[in-house]
Amino acid sequence: MSKSFLLLFFKKEDCSFLKKRTKKLLPFGIRHMLAASALWLGAGAAHADSGEYLTRAADCAACHTAPGHAPFTGGRAFKLPVGTLYSPNLTPDVATGVGAYTDDEWVSALQRGVGHGGKYLYPAMPYNSYTLMSRADALAIKSYIFSLKPVHAEAPPNKLRFPFNQRWTLWFWNQANNPGHRFEPAADKSPAWNRGAYLAQALGHCDQCHTPRNWMQGLKQGRAYAGANQAGWLAYNITSDKAHGIGAWSDADLGHYLSTGTAPGHGPASGPMAEAVTNSLRYLTAPDIAAMVTYLRDIPPQPDGPAMVAANVTPHAPDPLGQQVFNAACAGCHLPNGQGRQSAWAALAGDHSAGDPRGTNMLQILAQGSELRTNDRLVFMHAFTQSFSDAELAAAAHYVTTQFAGRDSDVTADDIAAARAAVASPDLRAASE
Ligand code: HEC
Ligand code: HEC
Ligand code: HEC
Repeated sequence: MSKSFLLLFFKKEDCSFLKKRTKKLLPFGIRHMLAASALWLGAGAAHADSGEYLTRAADCAACHTAPGHAPFTGGRAFKLPVGTLYSPNLTPDVATGVGAYTDDEWVSALQRGVGHGGKYLYPAMPYNSYTLMSRADALAIKSYIFSLKPVHAEAPPNKLRFPFNQRWTLWFWNQANNPGHRFEPAADKSPAWNRGAYLAQALGHCDQCHTPRNWMQGLKQGRAYAGANQAGWLAYNITSDKAHGIGAWSDADLGHYLSTGTAPGHGPASGPMAEAVTNSLRYLTAPDIAAMVTYLRDIPPQPDGPAMVAANVTPHAPDPLGQQVFNAACAGCHLPNGQGRQSAWAALAGDHSAGDPRGTNMLQILAQGSELRTNDRLVFMHAFTQSFSDAELAAAAHYVTTQFAGRDSDVTADDIAAARAAVASPDLRAASE
């Protein structure tokens, strides 16, 4: 417990310089909108079409950076059902990075999944989303990437089983799963909707995590954003369904969640979504966040996944062990009533993960922890790798679900053991070394 206090999760960073500079660069109208919420202030605010802004909006750094390594130097492990794949170095080093790419090869990698020298790329590189990107935006991203310092960094060799180690087989995948066309604005929708759709589909690739996959690991047609399992986490239903999706969230809450990783009465963004906020969404301008909200509002409802949680629920009678462990291990940050101490990011009222009886994301956050960086602070929860037994952590998980979501939990001590074992597996360790 003392450890949790030592690790308390506030770290203010000085961004007053940035604020001053951006103020000078922006016209009054936009400045006014940004002032409404200082947290919405994106670093790329003045240049929404610059290569750096687009690279952030498309979140190239997320996958092309291994934990603890320099941005864009690659080597992040992707555990697939058929083996492990590593992302390549995206700095302009000629020998180990993308330095040899011509403009046409670059655009082909992003739109067709065929890279330098005609190499077919695995769809862990989300070119079936980036295919919607315009050539101009793809090349603006290339200019930015080519302005970075070249770093010599070779990715570890892939460990894929035959026949999946044969790149030519991806031709078939592309035929079936890559739409292979550019974004076409919908004439019957507003400019904001179209901008939001472009940001979410062509750049932010939200569907790669939030849309269920078919047997070929392509995205399921007609099931857009219904929620999906992604690397052990559940990327929730974000359709306009009121009971399971975000249909009942206010525009302000949704915008706040996307740009800061939390919203009052909805809990924090953790794991992969915390990464999306950290690397990408927090840099988007207020008008771009608003455009994305306009688009998300309009996604046809799908009834999948754990039901959304109301911010005010009637708790069940607490189990004594769960209460004891929660008070010892969790309440230091979350407070006994789940309201969060000092930080809105530790508030669990209305948190979707608290209300998932299977506890998918709760298991992940207990085993791996989570970290989120906003434009002015770093928040994190450390992993519970030891100190508490599997049964004790399962009891704490039950406590969260019964107290803050008013639901029963199915999490068992075996689930906790399995989640901890998966995090300790050699493949994941290799990725962070
Ligand atoms: C969801 C993860 C993910 C994201 C996001 C992502 N990539 Fe990739 N990328 C990969 C993986 C994995 C590979 C390796 C694929 C392979 O080996 O076939 C790759 C390969 C590439 C290659 C081929 C490099 C080579 O060795 O020839 C290029 C170029 C590339 N990515 C550019 C980008 C750019 C630009 C962005 C942002 C617009 C981006 N990637 C975003 C995962 C990602
Ligand atoms: C790398 C995977 C990934 C990507 C990319 C991603 N998400 Fe998520 N998203 C998740 C996960 C996982 C969660 C659950 C987070 C948690 O447990 O706190 C989530 C949660 C959310 C939620 C909160 C839902 C709820 O019920 O609490 C919203 C809203 C959301 N994402 C929107 C988006 C949008 C919009 C994009 C694209 C700009 C996006 N996400 C891209 C994985 C992803
Ligand atoms: C060091 C402070 C700290 C401690 C101790 C702590 N948490 Fe957290 N917890 C956080 C923060 C901060 C977040 C938000 C993390 C993020 O957004 O990346 C969080 C997020 C969560 C979430 C939300 C996950 C989601 O996907 O939305 C759950 C559930 C949770 N914690 C449960 C627990 C439980 C159970 C314990 C005790 C076993 C615990 N926490 C201990 C700080 C803490």
